[in-house]
Amino acid sequence: MTNNPKRYTVTAALPYANGPVHIGHLAGVYLPADVYVRYLRLQNRDVKFICGSDEHGVPITIRAKKEGITPQQAVDKYHELIKKSFEDFNISFDVYDRTSSKIHAETAGDFFKKLYEDGKFIEQTTQQYYDEKAQQFLADRYIVGTCPKCGNENAYGDQCESCGTSLNATDLINPKSTLSGAVPVMRETKHWYLPLNEYEAWLREWIVEGHKGDWKPNVYGQCKSWIDQGLQPRAVTRDLDWGVPVPVEGAEGKVLYVWFDAPIGYISATKALTDDWEKYWKDEESKLVHFIGKDNIVFHCIIFPSMLKAHGDYILPDNVPANEFLNLEGDKISTSRNWAVWLHEYLEEFPGKGDVLRYALASNMPETKDNDFTWKDYQARNNNELLAILGNFINRAVVLTQKYYEGAVPERGELTDYDREVLGVLEGMPLVIATYIERYRFRDALGELMNLARLGNKYLADTEPWKLIKTDAERVKTIMNIALQISGSLSILMEPFLPESAGKLRSMLSLNPGMWADAGSADLVPAGHIIGKPELLFERVEDAAVDAQVQKLLDTKKANEVANATVETAKENITFDDFTKMDIRIGTILEAEKVAKTKKLLKLKVDTGIDQRTVVSGIAEFFKPEEIVGQQVSILVNLAPREIKGITSQGMILMAENPDGSLAFVQPSKQIKNGGEVR
Ligand code: MF3
Ligand code: ZN
Repeated sequence: MTNNPKRYTVTAALPYANGPVHIGHLAGVYLPADVYVRYLRLQNRDVKFICGSDEHGVPITIRAKKEGITPQQAVDKYHELIKKSFEDFNISFDVYDRTSSKIHAETAGDFFKKLYEDGKFIEQTTQQYYDEKAQQFLADRYIVGTCPKCGNENAYGDQCESCGTSLNATDLINPKSTLSGAVPVMRETKHWYLPLNEYEAWLREWIVEGHKGDWKPNVYGQCKSWIDQGLQPRAVTRDLDWGVPVPVEGAEGKVLYVWFDAPIGYISATKALTDDWEKYWKDEESKLVHFIGKDNIVFHCIIFPSMLKAHGDYILPDNVPANEFLNLEGDKISTSRNWAVWLHEYLEEFPGKGDVLRYALASNMPETKDNDFTWKDYQARNNNELLAILGNFINRAVVLTQKYYEGAVPERGELTDYDREVLGVLEGMPLVIATYIERYRFRDALGELMNLARLGNKYLADTEPWKLIKTDAERVKTIMNIALQISGSLSILMEPFLPESAGKLRSMLSLNPGMWADAGSADLVPAGHIIGKPELLFERVEDAAVDAQVQKLLDTKKANEVANATVETAKENITFDDFTKMDIRIGTILEAEKVAKTKKLLKLKVDTGIDQRTVVSGIAEFFKPEEIVGQQVSILVNLAPREIKGITSQGMILMAENPDGSLAFVQPSKQIKNGGEVR
């Protein structure tokens, strides 16, 4: 592909509509795709940015079942939620479609039919896993087992997410149904297979020979290793009742495999967007780029291209810049463990700060290896970079221009070497950043953008216009003019990364949206132009705000530990007589105080109905004395008295314990007269 394609077709992986989207999705796929597309638009390139919800497949039906709703209800709910999150983060899709649409069923059905009629499939009746309890064939995520490649015990029937290997359910060791937990039996069924082995030589030539060096090493490496291991036929149909029906005779009750229909969703979405869709998919001069996460590599580099090749009418991806994964505070992001920062929740807690998260994620994008998101880093990125470098520079430039010239941009006078050097950097910056973006190196691109803001700060700090204004007002005009050119340039160059802030900056400078090349101009903000009023682009993120987020995660971790804790097995049986030996009564706490020089002990006075007595109890870490006075508790009254820290404790308060060690009283569910027996 030339560097000057006629047009671009940019896709971002269709997220499963089985849950909300989180920072891992944003950092891995949608943010880099959005930066790329916004940049292309500023270059005036013809580009369509395509996405939508992936609404078929087992992930959806599992979720629906869990929530007690139909698959359609589940996808309706999550489609809207996901769509809104993307809008709120200014991910600028030209279309956000969905694979439950009519147009998609037709497009995917026709695609299958063409391959079927052209004899591209193998029709095969084989033994497949079947769950007798659930009365259903088990494919994909309905079955888990040990990955034969890496030993991960939770590999799915179509893929091991641990090592990325694509699997057939029959490859799994110790398979188990995720529907019922049952060990599946074998049952005969007919399916259609795409013989990937027949595409091996072509894939080798196209990827291993053809894309060495221009595809990212992580993507290229994975592809090469699969091709080297040899490819096998893959079933593209399933025995499920949720999906696109297989449109051929003898396929009643069968649907297309979700990974067959979903990527065709890119095509259906383009159709839904424009009547002109064909040129984005069938013209060799269109450049197709797929943004995805690393678990999608095999599907976008091997399977979908083989489908496109088999079909014959379509172009192939020019690049598949897959990212690695983003972790959260040192742990793998996980929907089931609720270990995530959900995009919709973030915006509720940090309203108006979409750009800050975009920035923190872009600076830390997992481009070449897995990265870790931490709230401390988020705070530092905001306070030390956005605020201290970018925001501070813009603020100085705009405030001083207002102060000295009532907002009218001053003329440049004679230039010093330093001025020329700075303008030289400015002039070269659009190309420097463009080169990184076109190579999918978004972190480096962002780094250069911040270097320009740094340079602006340094220029003002070195030239000190605020001092010079008293001695050399003419020189200050030149300095401020140059500072404003840098500001104007930043308003364009930051747009792909920080679209909302770029808009604010433009309005501060009273500029119309400019094009990429304009950002190198020394006259972007012409002399005499009147700029607007200063406005803060960013604000400080305080410790309390990030501490609260960290606490929320710690709470999640605790909750997970509690939920996953194993329960002690039952003790040996006792007789009824053994039980009745214990005299347990309901009593009321009358007084409570800490036992001096201990951390855990409280001295309680309890009205047992029989008497008022003293009990020493190890509950001080969980209860404040003043909170428990007046509460009813269960107390074992015939426990032999014990001496504790010099106090005679007469009896024992019954406590229930949580797996995290926290304690609760065992209390009657309604008021009981003190002395009431527990039995
Ligand atoms: N839904 C898939 C996932 O979240 C991605 C599908 S991408 C497409 O991993 F190409 F199939 F659309
Ligand atoms: Zn594996």
